[in-house]
Amino acid sequence: MKRNPFNPGSGVPPPYLAGREDQLSTFGKVLESIEDGHVENVIVHGLRGTGKTVLLDEFNRMCRERKFLPIRRPQFSEKYCNQEEFEKALKFDMRIAIETFSKVTWFKNRMKAGISYLKPKSVGIPDTFYYEPSYEKSTSIPFEDYLKKYLNDNWTVFENADFRGVILLYDEFHTVVDDKRNKQYVLSDFLAAVNEVQKAGSKYFAVLCGLPNLQLNVKKARSYSERMYRSIEVGNLNDEAATLAIEKALEGTSYKFEAQLVKSMVEDTGGYPYFLQFYGKETISNTTVSKITQRDYERIKPLVVTQLDADFFEPRFELASSGEQRALCAMSRFAGPNIPFRFIKSKARMSKNDASVSLGRLEKKGMAYNYKRGEYRFSMPMFRNYLVRKCS
Ligand SMILES: Nc1ncnc2c1ncn2[C@@H]1O[C@H](COP(=O)(O)OP(=O)(O)O)[C@@H](O)[C@H]1O
Ligand SMILES: [Mg+2]
Repeated sequence: MKRNPFNPGSGVPPPYLAGREDQLSTFGKVLESIEDGHVENVIVHGLRGTGKTVLLDEFNRMCRERKFLPIRRPQFSEKYCNQEEFEKALKFDMRIAIETFSKVTWFKNRMKAGISYLKPKSVGIPDTFYYEPSYEKSTSIPFEDYLKKYLNDNWTVFENADFRGVILLYDEFHTVVDDKRNKQYVLSDFLAAVNEVQKAGSKYFAVLCGLPNLQLNVKKARSYSERMYRSIEVGNLNDEAATLAIEKALEGTSYKFEAQLVKSMVEDTGGYPYFLQFYGKETISNTTVSKITQRDYERIKPLVVTQLDADFFEPRFELASSGEQRALCAMSRFAGPNIPFRFIKSKARMSKNDASVSLGRLEKKGMAYNYKRGEYRFSMPMFRNYLVRKCS
């Protein structure tokens, strides 16, 4: 069969999921610990394209296998920093989840379908009703208390359906932050509500996934969260796993990569999953033979690099204003991973305020982030190499 197996993209399943044994085993332990009655929450974090979303697919599957109900929202964004939008999303997801399993329950029990699945108040399993109050701005209930009550009051629906717990799998969650200017504290309120319902014995657990700044966002919003959330890092694959990601993908196809080629590809991609898929795919696309050698690869490589710039880096870089691009170029002139604010400010020739505004915007746009006090990092792997090419 002559099919190109590689699959670069966002959240698209790889031909072979390599090297995630540790993360999967940690998550397995988390579920086990919840089964034993403990409280566990997770933060999954890593640079863009490292494979967080496809790992969440696996977590989703594990939840189902072990009788937890996963409620997944794949695309959080800045919009959800607003209370009403967040509330809408949460309620929609909860209702859909309940509708889905309540239909199954009714069929299983061969009961008359005397229930309307569409009217929110009557959706549920026999004798248990879903409760959906609306949070109105005019009420005097703080948003966190509203969330807490909403979750708590509905826990019996899940409990009576024999779920061991509800796992909120939230992707791209680094985009949800407190917005002081508009007095919207969705992140703090959500974290507080989850914490409170857990104390009350309602079994909701959070798996928050996003770019590395998610960790600091959570810590800043609720300092106690540090103790409540286990961190699962998703990074580049080690050489062995990266080799497997290539070799296993080729199994069952008519393509063969020379051993030296595989080695070079692992090195050139730094073991970053998106790049591995991309290099693999483009290498095959740019040849006519099925046994591909190191020499072929060396000829093709410049094309692959140009294509990767155009597909992965360029569209992001274009999102940055000219001031933000200047800050990025300044960052690329620093050799180490942790780039001091002072260095950026001086190389970009910016005032303290302008530099900090630009960096704040770059964080929102997913290109750089405040790693710790006074130090910044890139949010995309190998971004520096691209910038060095771009900014010169
Ligand atoms: N463990 C892995 N082994 C091989 N390929 C992977 C692995 N994890 C992810 N990929 C591939 O990398 C790309 C990016 O994955 P994705 O989950 O979208 O990353 P993220 O959510 O971190 O941005 C996808 O094309 C995916 O198929
Ligand atoms: Mg993703």
